[in-house]
Amino acid sequence: MMKRVLVYLLCGLYGVLAKVKAQKGNYSVPVLDVISRQLIVDANQTLLLSCRGRWDLMWTYPSGVVKDQVRVEESRCGRTSHHYCSRLVVSQSRAQNTGLFHCRYRHRPQKQSSVYVYVTDSQQPFVEHPDISPDVLYLTEKQSLVIPCRVTHPNVTTTLVKFHLQSWSPDQRNITWNSRQGFTIQSPNYFHTGPFHCQTVVNGVTHQSRMYIVHRLVTNIMKVFLNGSNPVENLKGRRLVLNCTATAELNTRVTFRWSYPGKRNNTGIISRKIQNLRTHMLFYSILTIPKLKKTDRGLYTCRVSSGKNVKKTNVTVNVYDRPFIHLKPKNGSVLEVKAGQKLYRVARLKAFPKPEVIWLKDGRVAAEQCSRYHVDENSLIIRDVAEEDAGKYTVLVRIQEHGLQQNFTLTLVVNVSPRIGEKAVLVQDPGSVPRGSRQALHCTSHGVPRPFNTWFWHPCPPRGRPAAPRA
Ligand SMILES: *[C@@H]1O[C@H](CO)[C@@H](O)[C@H](O)[C@H]1NC(C)=O
Ligand SMILES: *[C@@H]1O[C@H](CO)[C@@H](O)[C@H](O)[C@H]1NC(C)=O
Ligand SMILES: *[C@@H]1O[C@H](CO)[C@@H](O)[C@H](O)[C@H]1NC(C)=O
Ligand SMILES: *[C@@H]1O[C@H](CO)[C@@H](O)[C@H](O)[C@H]1NC(C)=O
Ligand SMILES: *[C@@H]1O[C@H](CO)[C@@H](O)[C@H](O)[C@H]1NC(C)=O
Ligand SMILES: *[C@@H]1O[C@H](CO)[C@@H](O)[C@H](O)[C@H]1NC(C)=O
Ligand SMILES: *[C@@H]1O[C@H](CO)[C@@H](O)[C@H](O)[C@H]1NC(C)=O
Ligand SMILES: *[C@@H]1O[C@H](CO)[C@@H](O)[C@H](O)[C@H]1NC(C)=O
Ligand SMILES: *[C@@H]1O[C@H](CO)[C@@H](O)[C@H](O)[C@H]1NC(C)=O
Ligand SMILES: *[C@@H]1O[C@H](CO)[C@@H](O)[C@H](O)[C@H]1NC(C)=O
Repeated sequence: MMKRVLVYLLCGLYGVLAKVKAQKGNYSVPVLDVISRQLIVDANQTLLLSCRGRWDLMWTYPSGVVKDQVRVEESRCGRTSHHYCSRLVVSQSRAQNTGLFHCRYRHRPQKQSSVYVYVTDSQQPFVEHPDISPDVLYLTEKQSLVIPCRVTHPNVTTTLVKFHLQSWSPDQRNITWNSRQGFTIQSPNYFHTGPFHCQTVVNGVTHQSRMYIVHRLVTNIMKVFLNGSNPVENLKGRRLVLNCTATAELNTRVTFRWSYPGKRNNTGIISRKIQNLRTHMLFYSILTIPKLKKTDRGLYTCRVSSGKNVKKTNVTVNVYDRPFIHLKPKNGSVLEVKAGQKLYRVARLKAFPKPEVIWLKDGRVAAEQCSRYHVDENSLIIRDVAEEDAGKYTVLVRIQEHGLQQNFTLTLVVNVSPRIGEKAVLVQDPGSVPRGSRQALHCTSHGVPRPFNTWFWHPCPPRGRPAAPRA
């Protein structure tokens, strides 16, 4: 036997009937036999819903309804059997069946009619059984928070309780209550984190909902970086490992996304690791390409997102066919530099993998000869270039693991601007000499390359004026 309690008419009864009548004409959506938008059924009763339409029909119902409870009876109906009728029978209804039931057209599911059914059980005012494991909810800043403690009767009044310490009743503004949704906190803050439950009193007995644990969802990514130098260089056939690290505030959850040349072919293997520190969190995403191919060269991007917060970093990967040593002097094997130059880089060496390098000057280790010589990763650097830096420079390059060895010799010419020796000492007036006598005038000059001397003669100035300078 079926007992149905029809309660609320959301619109006026007249309005609803008028609408049903209008729809009946063309059945653009299937039509349910219940006029109200909601039904209240007692637990253990059989719930019966009928639907009619112009095409094949189907039902959807809350996840709390189990298959064993459900029977669907289909038939053709109407004066000439041109309509489709369907009856949904839910036996032994229970509190967990509470929710929205839809009747839709199978070929156009968006064309549907629905009814919200409360299955009232005085022993279980909350839809979800209080003993099931706690639900984890995430609080996001500037978004409302819903504690989904739905109830099995529209008139149930509840309070929201935090850890038996603090409780809230709906205030119609900041905290609202809806029997089909639960509590909504409009602007939650960190007070609204932790364990919560809803509570109601039915016939003098206090009932609790299941537990909800609210975490604050933080989306603050502070930094994202890839380990290693840029570019990353490797040999064909070798393994490439890139480690993308994101630091983020506590409670943040992040998503990694890699973009790289071999992504379409799925050449990479990605693994993850999380480290919870006291003040922040570290997330790692490790991309491994087991066997590099020439096509794997290119840009590798690690994109980290948390909510709307996104940070990216990238690195270029070069893949070499074989190990190599390559030296490219700027200007053949003879180099020229001006004395006094602050910094001079003697040639640029390219090699992979990282070679052992020794620079010699005139056959002796350069760095030991002068403190102005400095060897960096790919060249010899001379500070405050001086004349004595001229000479033969040899670089010995070796990559032992691949049996590669090469040496190059370069000649460095240091140009020095010409200077006249006499100008450094006081110019002495040779005084007056007898007319017709033979005089020798000296001029010493120095420079690289060797300067040319040119003599100029200036006629004597009138008496009483100093002598014109000699060139
Ligand atoms: C069916 O009726 C509804 C409401 O009366 C109307 O909006 C719709 O256009 C009609 N559809 C057809 C196919 O006649
Ligand atoms: C429903 O039936 C079960 C067992 O048949 C019974 O224990 C329970 O009290 C009934 N619930 C209601 C609300 O009648
Ligand atoms: C629900 O409450 C309203 C008033 O708040 C009352 O009119 C109605 O009868 C109640 N319904 C049931 C089924 O208790
Ligand atoms: C809602 O919250 C605001 C700010 O927190 C407060 O000023 C206001 O009184 C609250 N409204 C109600 C109805 O509690
Ligand atoms: C990834 O790199 C970070 C620092 O660059 C390092 O601390 C961490 O151990 C690396 N992770 C793995 C799995 O090697
Ligand atoms: C990045 O880190 C991983 C793991 O620590 C390491 O195996 C790999 O060689 C590093 N890559 C570079 C380019 O440094
Ligand atoms: C992807 O696989 C195809 C076919 O094996 C190959 O031709 C192509 O070069 C590969 N691309 C990359 C980027 O590895
Ligand atoms: C790679 O990263 C650099 C520095 O973060 C950035 O300037 C550049 O635009 C990035 N390149 C691409 C293609 O995303
Ligand atoms: C390169 O050589 C030319 C002629 O040999 C010379 O004029 C020029 O100064 C040299 N440049 C450098 C940077 O050594
Ligand atoms: C430079 O290489 C040649 C052969 O490539 C070798 O004969 C010579 O000894 C090497 N010079 C030095 C200083 O190692």
